[in-house]
Amino acid sequence: MKQIIAIIRPEKFPEVKKALTDAGVKGMTIREVKGRGNQKGIKLQSRGGSYEIEFLDKIEIMVVVHSDMAQKVMDVILASARTDRGPGDGKIFVLPVDEVIRIRTGEKNDDSL
Ligand SMILES: Nc1ncnc2c1ncn2[C@@H]1O[C@H](COP(=O)(O)OP(=O)(O)OP(=O)(O)O)[C@@H](O)[C@H]1O
Ligand SMILES: [Mg+2]
Repeated sequence: MKQIIAIIRPEKFPEVKKALTDAGVKGMTIREVKGRGNQKGIKLQSRGGSYEIEFLDKIEIMVVVHSDMAQKVMDVILASARTDRGPGDGKIFVLPVDEVIRIRTGEKNDDSL
């Protein structure tokens, strides 16, 4: 099993959610996060001069899937989260998962997803 953590632009979330759902993903956890990438934030101009926002709003999507679904999920996120607006589209992290248990039934691992 694999844990896939995607940090994406908030405005892309509806599209990514639909693409994941269409690909058969059911359970997922999301949260509003703040982050920065290689650009270490962005510089903005206002009448009072320029200022920097160090951490930008992002959405984190966390999904655990069967290993044979992981590549599909990554591809779906890539296709739906990408924009042509330059830096800041986000990142995908993939981690191995040792164990999953459905609390209601005690089912484990592949049966519990
Ligand atoms: N190395 C990292 N570790 C943890 N979180 C990260 C890392 N890189 C990016 N993130 C998270 O992903 C968000 C989006 O990153 P971002 O798309 O700006 O990555 P990038 O590497 O700077 O690529 P780009 O050049 O396309 O902007 C960040 O705001 C942060 O929340
Ligand atoms: Mg960046």
